[in-house]
Amino acid sequence: MKVFVVGIAGGVGRRVAARLVAQGVQVGGLVRRSAQVEDLAAEGIAATLGDLVTLTSEELAAFIRGYDAAVFTAGAGGEGGPEAIDQIDGAGPGKLSKAAEIAGVSRIVLVSVFPEAWRERRMDEAFEHYMVAKKQAEVELVLTDLDWVIVRPSALSNAPGTGLVDLGLAKVHEEITRDDVAETVVEVLRQPDVNRIILEVTDGATPIAAAVSTMAGAGRA
Ligand SMILES: NC(=O)c1ccc[n+]([C@@H]2O[C@H](COP(=O)([O-])OP(=O)(O)OC[C@H]3O[C@@H](n4cnc5c(N)ncnc54)[C@H](OP(=O)(O)O)[C@@H]3O)[C@@H](O)[C@H]2O)c1
Repeated sequence: MKVFVVGIAGGVGRRVAARLVAQGVQVGGLVRRSAQVEDLAAEGIAATLGDLVTLTSEELAAFIRGYDAAVFTAGAGGEGGPEAIDQIDGAGPGKLSKAAEIAGVSRIVLVSVFPEAWRERRMDEAFEHYMVAKKQAEVELVLTDLDWVIVRPSALSNAPGTGLVDLGLAKVHEEITRDDVAETVVEVLRQPDVNRIILEVTDGATPIAAAVSTMAGAGRA
């Protein structure tokens, strides 16, 4: 299997890539700085230099051609204001799915967010803008004919992973480690029968592989 990760230098992206490489999967990804290309090359990852904001879908298609799947786990991360949120979190997944259609890459895994995440904290306008952009990206992806899976993690932490989650169509928003989100994404890539479905995932008590496999065949035809 060959997997291309958009957001490969990020918290979740790095962890997805490391797990895939350890399993002998060929991994590529998109980065914005040449130093990141070198760092990732040392880990056996073929990163490509490019900025999601300025790349066209056609250019991105050339990067992902020949891959079996693409993962989107990029995000503006609070930098660059609403415009960056629109361009990266909002338009980025659509750009990748269009690229996937052009390049014949059928499987896309999108790391998104719980719709009610942190709403009880009465977050600011920028956060609300981020939430709307994330949802718009989901809407665009589910309208494609691709073999998509959307993974909505709860609030991310850098604590060590437990290998255990609570995963399903609708879960209560709590917290989850980036390790466990990465493992969930890798497991989704390993299980093609889990398809055309939105999965909410948070910390829990079920081993990740078993939690993902309960969703096999449950997606939209
Ligand atoms: N934080 C939370 O609690 C939370 C909860 C649920 C979901 N999420 C979502 O989960 C996903 C992963 O989160 P994370 O913590 O791993 O994010 P992260 O560490 O901030 O990583 C995001 C990555 O996206 C890349 N990126 C940003 N703009 C880009 C551009 N224009 N072109 C190419 N790459 C670009 C960044 O590249 P650089 O390395 O160049 O900066 C970075 O590597 C995000 O989509 C986030 O919205 C987060």
